[in-house]
Amino acid sequence: MNVTIDSLEDADIFGRPLFNDPSSRKLKRVGVVDVGSNSVRLVVFDGAARSPAYFFNEKIMCALGAGLSDTGRLNPEGRARALSAIARFQEIAAQICNGPLTAVATAAVREAEDGPEFCAEVLDKTGLEIHVIDGKEEARLSAQGVLLGWPGSYGLVCDIGGSSMELAEINDGEVGERVTSKLGPLKLQDIEGGAEGRQAYIQKTLDKLYVKMGDQENRLFLVGGSWRAIARVDMERRAYPLNVLHEYRMTAEDVAATAAFIAENDLEELRQRCGLSAQRMALVPFAIEVLIGLLDRFTPYDIAISSYGIREGMLYEQMPDELRRRDPLIEACRHAESKDARLPGFGRTLYDFVKPLFKDGSKDRKRLVKAACLLHDVSWRAHPDYRAETCFDNATRANLGGLKHSERVFLGLALLHRYRNKREGTRFEELYDLLNLEDQKQAEILGKAMRFGAMLWMQAGTDLGKLTYKAASAELHLELPDRARALYGEVAEARLQSLASALEAELFVSFS
Ligand code: LMR
Ligand code: MG
Repeated sequence: MNVTIDSLEDADIFGRPLFNDPSSRKLKRVGVVDVGSNSVRLVVFDGAARSPAYFFNEKIMCALGAGLSDTGRLNPEGRARALSAIARFQEIAAQICNGPLTAVATAAVREAEDGPEFCAEVLDKTGLEIHVIDGKEEARLSAQGVLLGWPGSYGLVCDIGGSSMELAEINDGEVGERVTSKLGPLKLQDIEGGAEGRQAYIQKTLDKLYVKMGDQENRLFLVGGSWRAIARVDMERRAYPLNVLHEYRMTAEDVAATAAFIAENDLEELRQRCGLSAQRMALVPFAIEVLIGLLDRFTPYDIAISSYGIREGMLYEQMPDELRRRDPLIEACRHAESKDARLPGFGRTLYDFVKPLFKDGSKDRKRLVKAACLLHDVSWRAHPDYRAETCFDNATRANLGGLKHSERVFLGLALLHRYRNKREGTRFEELYDLLNLEDQKQAEILGKAMRFGAMLWMQAGTDLGKLTYKAASAELHLELPDRARALYGEVAEARLQSLASALEAELFVSFS
């Protein structure tokens, strides 16, 4: 991950937690409504501010944009369903949100001739004011959503909805050029001339977008339910072991293989295997035609799925700059520590203790070491027999941004080894392969170091002693303050020895 934010500096990273600041506390329980062409959704964000938790998230597939190209109007049945969904959302928001909901409507409402009438009816019956945004604003908001998870990144964000598809460039954390198009799957369904007619329409539209956007060979970030559905099918095809869509990566070859896979499988059977709704699955064959065209045209070097989009972009919009620059992963881990650890603040002490083992590690590696230290004790309430597995699960399946799948496994393994020596014999073995062997070893070393360090704890900020690792001569030295003699019992010694063995180093312990 490409992070150039100040929170990575040691001094800053363990500074005053930002989620205690009044400016971020204001962001607690922020509710947003996205009136899309496919779905109408309420999300209420909570807590840790920089890396929000989904306090409430409800979606109704209203298909407001279905049939729009023929009738020029919103799908009438969808319109009625959207209205009652919004009435429910308002009721919920009144009970759980801090302030009023912020609502935006995209392609279907902005294009339909009865869009204004629909908004007036919603306002009249529910009191919710809907802001109908144009395509460029839609592109900007979803690009901001991507920035919530990948601060400081570069690439092209592509948001597909029911009736439109937007592109936005991001450069070093800023949203640049943006365009909108009608390449939404509901729209494509209505194009005449069958597959050929659609192909021609897609090509012609992409040609125009290319003229405006130019070469875009950085990462392509995919936002929107139809892209997520394609990724889900791709996972099924590859028998991918981790069911997290956010940060899932694909190549152009994967997409081509998945298009063939969809064509040769029974759609209904595949839908059930992938756990997709019928409405969603019906659009996948159209959406994948757009994706293939897009990849052909822009040749990005990599594709990443982002579960963060327009809704998260609306939250990001409300964040002060200082908060935006924070690292979402570290903020979330710190929040977890303050909420669940027995000794909030000890994560930092532990990090200082284990740091000498990773002094040659990359910035990204040190970031993960920090995250692990902050999380090292958050699962203490779990049943002891399952604690190691709970930790692994928590890390790999957490709803976190700023974390690659391989990094999830790194964190998971480190936390697993914080509780047990062996990683064999768990339910997760197929997931380990998402991490190369050297990194698996590093995660084990980190876990064992945390396991030992946690035995010497009494208070945050306490003097845990000093670890020195000399890789060249394969020596691990531990200097302990004299008063720690009693703490350094036989179990502690066995744990330290296990760490030394993982490092293939000889152990030297001294007291001062
Ligand atoms: C929409 O247009 O509804 C999309 O933004 C979201 C979806 O569910 O496809
Ligand atoms: Mg949308």
